[in-house]
This record gives sequence, C-alpha cells and structure tokens, in this order.
Amino acid sequence: MRAVVITEPGGPDVLQVQEVPEPGVAADEVLIDVAATAINRADLLQRQGFYPPPPGASEILGMECSGTIAAVGAEVAGWAVGDRVCALLAGGGYAQRVAAPAGQLLPVPAGVSLVEAAALPEVACTVWSMVFGANAGRLLPGERFLVHGGSSGIGTMAIQLAHQRGAEVFTTAGTPAKLDACRVLGADHVINYREEAFEERIAELTGGAGVDVVLDNMGAKYLGRNLTALATGGRLVVLGMQGGVKGELNLATLLGKRATVHAAGLRARPPAMKAEIVTETLANVWPLIEAGTVRPVVDRVLPLDAAGEAHRVVDASEHVGKVVLQVSSEED
Ligand SMILES: NC(=O)c1ccc[n+]([C@@H]2O[C@H](COP(=O)([O-])OP(=O)(O)OC[C@H]3O[C@@H](n4cnc5c(N)ncnc54)[C@H](OP(=O)(O)O)[C@@H]3O)[C@@H](O)[C@H]2O)c1
Repeated sequence: MRAVVITEPGGPDVLQVQEVPEPGVAADEVLIDVAATAINRADLLQRQGFYPPPPGASEILGMECSGTIAAVGAEVAGWAVGDRVCALLAGGGYAQRVAAPAGQLLPVPAGVSLVEAAALPEVACTVWSMVFGANAGRLLPGERFLVHGGSSGIGTMAIQLAHQRGAEVFTTAGTPAKLDACRVLGADHVINYREEAFEERIAELTGGAGVDVVLDNMGAKYLGRNLTALATGGRLVVLGMQGGVKGELNLATLLGKRATVHAAGLRARPPAMKAEIVTETLANVWPLIEAGTVRPVVDRVLPLDAAGEAHRVVDASEHVGKVVLQVSSEED
C-alpha cells in the first residue's frame, strides 16, 4: 500500500509517499480503507524526530482518519465490512490502510462527508475530554471559558462546543482575519495575542473576576499569565507546550484562587481509556454535529502526495481549522 514515510527527521520535504507493507489486524481491531486523514500539530514534531509514537504504534504519521471498514477482527462486535467510520489512531493514518482498535471508531456523522469526517476524531475527543471531562476542565453552562489559538484545529472545535453548551467564550489568535473566524464560530470575546496582554483584557472584560476554565496550548510561556486570568475555583487545562515545558508557578496565587492546573495528552493513553472518551464524545458531540450546530472546520483538502505542503501550511499557521489529506480518490 502507499503511505507517507518520514525518510529522515527534518523539514516538510522529508515526507515521501512510498510502498509499505499493509498493517496486521488484531482480534479487537478493524482494518480501514482510508479515505482521508488530517494533520495535527504533534505530527510536525514527530516528523522532526521529537515525538516518537507510543510503544507498539505504527511509525507512520496520522492520529486520525476516515474511511470504510475493509476487514473486522474476530472479537469485534457492532461494526461490519463496508461501514463508513472515522477513527482516533495512535498512528498510521497517512496511508491507504490502517488498523484501528474497534473502541476508537466513530460513525461518520449524518450530514458530514467522508473526507470532512477525518477532521473530527482528534479535536472532538480531545476537546470533549479536556474541556468538559470530569477529570479535567468540567466546564459548565454559564461559565467563562478561554481557549488560546482559537483558529487552530483544537480551537475551532473548542469555541463551537463551549458556545453550544452555553459558556461565555474568550479566545486568542494572531491576526484580525483569524479573530473574525473565531467570532463566526461563536466566540464572544476575541483578543489579538500579538497586540494585547490577554490576562489584562480578560480582567477588563470580566470586571476582574477572570475565567473559569482555560484551555492552553502554550505551556510554560503562558503558565503565570493563565493563572492570573483564572477565576476563583478556576481550572487551567494544558494540552500543548508550544511555549516551552518548564515554567514557574506561583503556588500562593494557586492556593488563593483554589485553582487547579491539569495537563494531559490523549495519544499515549491505553485503548480502554480512549474507548471511554470516544463513547462520551459520540454521546455528547455527535448529536450537535448531526444537528448542524457544530461543524468540522476544514481549511483545505490536499492529496496524500502533498503531505509535505500540508505540513508547511500548518507549520506556518496559514490555516483556520484542520488541514485534511485525501487518500482515496473515490467520490464521497
Ligand atoms: N494533549 C493532547 O492530547 C492534544 C491533542 C491535540 C492537540 N494538542 C495540542 O493542542 C494545540 C493545538 O493543536 P492543533 O493541531 O489544533 O494546532 P494548530 O492548528 O497547528 O494551531 C496552533 C495554534 O497555536 C496558536 N498560537 C501560536 N502562538 C500563540 C500564542 N503566543 N498565543 C496563543 N496562540 C498561539 C496559533 O495561533 P495563530 O495562528 O493565530 O498564530 C494556532 O492557532 C497544540 O499545541 C497541540 O500539540 C494536544
């Protein structure tokens, strides 16, 4: 089968389509004929050699895909050959075929094309578990929510879900056009992080009260400022470290606010834990997508051969939402 291979750690040009062996399928897995996959920021790190896949996962890039089930493992119930699905993967999505644990499959939502569905699993599962999950953000209707990088893949889903669940949504982005896109998705307050100190603007906008939940992609660089922006009882959920891994935390501020700092990744969790998140995402997010109130935000669709160009676009942050790679040329 054809797959995108990292020929050596490096820039986008190291990605090349090559013939590779088909994956094996375990008893609890299905084999998917991949229609499309989508780029995640972590893929850029993996390409550069900084983010190896978890033990046992495919070396091929790709943490999500959509497609049609081609074969079903002996222990799999509830899924059949021919079903149209999308899936959360530990790797292997940038390929014509991938094996996925049955617990990580989701049906393609009604009203969403097979290609667009590739843009959903990673952002929907991540945002649901980290913003609303009992062990993480626990965002409630009427609360205030800040998501950094509102025009990112994660941000575009977080804004929509928080808005639909009745939160007041604050977001940051780096250009006026991206801020406009965030407003259209449901952000109530948009802050250009290049021009304003977001924590000061939030203090102004909330009369000093702050926000209840922050979803943060920056890590160390924003740690202190996020804490300043938090309300009493607030929850800071760190899901990315684009601004570094080591920061200083003022525990007196944390204590005074009775606040929580939580950091978590999805990819390395055991399949049973991912299956639980997938089940909750299906129950809570899929109905909103099928009702049309939350939608996959796809910036562009490129062919698999253009994986390098897709990485360049995401690296340069030229996108709003997700960049999708179409793998199969079959009509939707
Ligand atoms: N923990 C997990 O399981 C998990 C899962 C998925 C994603 N993530 C993380 O979530 C983040 C978003 O992922 P993605 O794939 O959606 O990324 P993406 O589409 O590549 O977006 C990256 C975002 O970072 C923003 N950004 C850059 N500098 C910023 C700054 N100083 N302040 C605020 N925002 C800034 C960019 O905003 P501009 O374009 O406006 O500059 C852009 O929106 C990444 O850090 C990723 O690693 C974590």
